[in-house]
Amino acid sequence: MGTEEQGVQKNAAALAIAPATGKLGVMVVGLGAVATTMIAGVEAIRQGLAKPIGSLTQMGTIRLGKRADNTSPLIQDFVPLAKLKDVVFTGWDIFEDNVYESAAHAKVLDEKTLAQLKPYLETIKPLPAVFDQFYVKRLHGTHVKTGKNKLDLANQVRADIQNFRKTVDRVVMIWAASTEIFLEQTAVHQSIEAFEAGLEANDPGIAPSQIYAYAALSEGVPFANGAPNLTVDFPAMVELSKRNAAPICGKDFKTGQTLMKTILAPAFKARLLGVKGWFSTNILGNRDGEVLDDPQSFKTKEESKLGSLDYIFQPELYPDLYKDIFHKIRINYYPPRGDDKEAWDNIDIFGWLGYPMQIKVNFLCRDSILAAPIALDLVLFLDLAKRTPSLRSIGIQEWLSFYLKSPQSAPGLYPEHDLFIQSMKLKNTLRHIMGADLITHLGLEYYD
Ligand SMILES: NC(=O)c1ccc[n+]([C@@H]2O[C@H](COP(=O)([O-])OP(=O)(O)OC[C@H]3O[C@@H](n4cnc5c(N)ncnc54)[C@H](O)[C@@H]3O)[C@@H](O)[C@H]2O)c1
Repeated sequence: MGTEEQGVQKNAAALAIAPATGKLGVMVVGLGAVATTMIAGVEAIRQGLAKPIGSLTQMGTIRLGKRADNTSPLIQDFVPLAKLKDVVFTGWDIFEDNVYESAAHAKVLDEKTLAQLKPYLETIKPLPAVFDQFYVKRLHGTHVKTGKNKLDLANQVRADIQNFRKTVDRVVMIWAASTEIFLEQTAVHQSIEAFEAGLEANDPGIAPSQIYAYAALSEGVPFANGAPNLTVDFPAMVELSKRNAAPICGKDFKTGQTLMKTILAPAFKARLLGVKGWFSTNILGNRDGEVLDDPQSFKTKEESKLGSLDYIFQPELYPDLYKDIFHKIRINYYPPRGDDKEAWDNIDIFGWLGYPMQIKVNFLCRDSILAAPIALDLVLFLDLAKRTPSLRSIGIQEWLSFYLKSPQSAPGLYPEHDLFIQSMKLKNTLRHIMGADLITHLGLEYYD
């Protein structure tokens, strides 16, 4: 294909994406530590008080063409993303605190920063939530909707979306609420019809997060899940997502320890270093830590965190290296640390002739500081997916696995956990939708 032809094709692909004109409405479920840190951060950036560190959509670049071309625009200049100035927030919570009060309670951002942002943050007041303590044992909600059954509650959330939609041009929803108890798929999750009957019959397999997600997808609104709950990862939701052109992705923000795991594990595998055991422990003192102190919510988190190593190491392909890894994860609620989580990893590895070695990782992180840019990027990329003809009706956006502890993939396909493959997949998807050449890193042409 000649350069001119390629040029024409590029324009056609890029032109097919609807522009990000007008306001993007972001509906956040749960206005706690992560959500308020994201919202306050976006406002601080809009006011020129801070930089969007950690956000690929705001600071990342993308290489186009050959290395010798030296063409690496900002991602936000390459794909038509909503601008931060056009983002409008609203949300739900089980407490009445406005975003300023909730951010002050979370104690992630300092008082001086919050005081500067107070006039704006005070204006965002939560809508009453869909909540049931059966699904989050440690919380007692006071600001909650009542309805005759779960379908009625879903319809109330749909009404909230419809009202908000009158004030903005497009809407995206993100779950940044507490981790629910561990639920497994049942018959009610297998089709849209079964799910809708289950809503009406108050099926116990339908948790509040599923009610919000059902409302969003029914309204054609993309949905991201920042927690490890069973929410959109079952056939009924995938079907609804495709039917209503409402993109979804995996779940559970990949922030601290799992981020490190999905960086280190691919390196061990690339160098064929074996692993005998991986012990991960955390102390965490925020409300998330308190919720995860309940064994049923912890189980949900544990399942999400455990998955990555098995998929990355592929023990069936490398039995001598990874067959019997002892993988253990602990989360301990320790209030003095608040949002400043501390994570320790002990990794027992082995090398040439089986000689053992150890690696220790001690990550003193800030949970919500790591999660906020992820939440923002997911929202902006899901809005892009909704405006992109080749993405909007495919359901699962596997290219967003980069951000998630539990990536979602097509039935029968294993999820991709390796951060570097995820990053390449994300950037190649952006090149693809813009009609640009994919980058394979072959590079032999430089040596012709
Ligand atoms: N911070 C991270 O690094 C990180 C990483 C991965 C996942 N997560 C997940 O993100 C979620 C949010 O974390 P956080 O630290 O902000 O927790 P948080 O406890 O500070 O905030 C959660 C908020 O959700 C509200 N809530 C609970 N159930 C609700 C419902 N049904 N509807 C509306 N609101 C509801 C709570 O009142 C609270 O304000 C948690 O599930 C956490 O496990 C966080």
